[in-house]
Amino acid sequence: MATAQIPPTFAALRSRSQDGQVSSALEQVSLHELSGGEVLLRALYSGINYKDCLSILGRARIISHFPRIAGIEVVGEVLDSSHAAFQPGAEVMVHGFQTGIDFDGGFSEIVRVPAAHVQPLPAGLSPLQAATLGVPGFTVALALERFEQFGVKPADGLVAVSGAGGAVGLMAIAILSKAGYQVAAITRRPSQADALRALGAAEVIDAGLAAQAPRALEKARFVAAIDNVGGGMLAWLLRSMQDSGCVASVGNAGGNAFDGSVLPFIMRRVQLFGVVANAPWAQRHRLWARLAGDLRPDFNALQAHVHQLPLDGLLAHAALQLQGATSGRALVSFAPGP
Ligand SMILES: NC(=O)c1ccc[n+]([C@@H]2O[C@H](COP(=O)([O-])OP(=O)(O)OC[C@H]3O[C@@H](n4cnc5c(N)ncnc54)[C@H](OP(=O)(O)O)[C@@H]3O)[C@@H](O)[C@H]2O)c1
Repeated sequence: MATAQIPPTFAALRSRSQDGQVSSALEQVSLHELSGGEVLLRALYSGINYKDCLSILGRARIISHFPRIAGIEVVGEVLDSSHAAFQPGAEVMVHGFQTGIDFDGGFSEIVRVPAAHVQPLPAGLSPLQAATLGVPGFTVALALERFEQFGVKPADGLVAVSGAGGAVGLMAIAILSKAGYQVAAITRRPSQADALRALGAAEVIDAGLAAQAPRALEKARFVAAIDNVGGGMLAWLLRSMQDSGCVASVGNAGGNAFDGSVLPFIMRRVQLFGVVANAPWAQRHRLWARLAGDLRPDFNALQAHVHQLPLDGLLAHAALQLQGATSGRALVSFAPGP
């Protein structure tokens, strides 16, 4: 047991609930306060997801029991393990399985997790590359696999990506363009157009187009779409699909409810499906191997969009991300040690 490396207390962002109000603060936490598990990690990077921002700022009921350390994903190094599959020094990652919700999560220097939730880092990915992809990259791979099952091919036409300047949007541009697809990046910030094109977008569309007075059906533009925004954007995408186009509903950064009609379905055979990143193991192994292989994005091009911040910068960042005032992929980066 590597107890010498394990400090008696360590920093974590812990969320508490009082009279229905959630607040989060940096605290010094002891090992015995963490939720259970066989594997103890030194966190290297924890991806900051939209859901984490909602969670730590108490804007949605995500955490099941308080106090809780949020953070739905973490890449780390095994410090100690009572499970034979994970030896000290191994680089691993955890995402989903209610991490940061039912179990303490990644916003902590030391993380304890059930061995059943731990995945070795995919061969060919460094800790930073795996963390950069994280839940957003895996989510894109889930959507892309469904497009492939529907028979969508790169030569078929444009694939729309909404919320293009966000983490899932950027990963979608990088991964889909690498796979040969023509990507139409939809953003509220056309000032980002050059950066989105540099990442691989073939076309950049002002999200304002989707807010114009709706028609029963719009011009048929897209063969597939990844929607990170929801609300009126999802309704517009459905009306803008070509015959047999498929739409992956991934996110709700712009709202949950949307108005619509059956016309896209009964006149253009449009297919709408949902994506949930908390996938079964067979799919995780298959898609992470692809993310390290044929779907591997250009990490050099992505680098400009990856923002690393210390744990004590997380709360301020989260408030900005929920306002839609951030862009790119944000990671809490933990200093070497403890
Ligand atoms: N289903 C799943 O398993 C899964 C997995 C990961 C994420 N998600 C969800 O997917 C969504 C995107 O996640 P993310 O990590 O990419 O979030 P993010 O980094 O915060 O990006 C969201 C993007 O959406 C756009 N946006 C933000 N607020 C908006 C608003 N009020 N109206 C219209 N557009 C808005 C912005 O793009 P522009 O500035 O370019 O317009 C923003 O960059 C979130 O809802 C998240 O919870 C779901």
